[in-house]
Amino acid sequence: MSNLNFIHLEKIDSTNTCAKNLLDSSKNTIDVDRCVICAEEQTCGRGRMNRSFYSPAASGLYMSVIYCPKEFKTAAEYTATAAVCVCDVINELFGIETSIKWVNDIYLNSKKICGILAEGYINPKTQKIEAIIVGIGINLCTEDFPPEILEKAGSLHLKNVDKVNLAKKLATKLFENYDKDEFFQIIKEYRKKSNVIGKKVKISPVINQEQKDFEALVLDITDEAKLKVQTEKNEILCLESGEISTKII
Ligand code: BTN
Repeated sequence: MSNLNFIHLEKIDSTNTCAKNLLDSSKNTIDVDRCVICAEEQTCGRGRMNRSFYSPAASGLYMSVIYCPKEFKTAAEYTATAAVCVCDVINELFGIETSIKWVNDIYLNSKKICGILAEGYINPKTQKIEAIIVGIGINLCTEDFPPEILEKAGSLHLKNVDKVNLAKKLATKLFENYDKDEFFQIIKEYRKKSNVIGKKVKISPVINQEQKDFEALVLDITDEAKLKVQTEKNEILCLESGEISTKII
């Protein structure tokens, strides 16, 4: 767990925003490469699709890592790798088996206990992508969720977790796997941990917002972490992004 530039904060708006600000203010992105920012509370935690991420004090792990590779992989590789690493570290440290709901939500007993937000950092001067920021929020003992997420959100029900140790273990595993060029191994693990393969799901496209929600059967996760589905018209589609719900009414 060496070589980590670890920043521990009591309270921040969002660790992902903090990571972006660090990159903006650094002369050279290499100076902040592998920086880990961990906060006890977020006042403006961010989730995918401009949602907020509920981040009260003394309840969860809220962390972001900055990674500056020489060559960039696809966004799917960074997020799928993070999802597998989160499940592995939770299992190693606490003996709890979690699963992955495509794209990158971590579930325990049908409830989402962790969200992952991976963002590319584009240098405003060069307009080039220079880093990846991966934000991870784990509900360790979060309770009293707001009404809009009450049905879906859950926690690991773990009190007194050493969050610094957890964040360092997670960041170390993440960087190790990002450095290796072995996504084919990660995707095998991702498939094993997937809780949607073989299930009928409702798909809400996020890119083409005009396209309506539709139902489909999940056949597999492809080697590129796409969701391979069969629609009710028997079409086979491979989706790169989207939001899926396993509750079909
Ligand atoms: C999602 O579920 O849509 C993704 C949630 C990601 C939340 C984490 S908490 C740490 C980091 N900082 C943020 O503002 N978001 C991520």
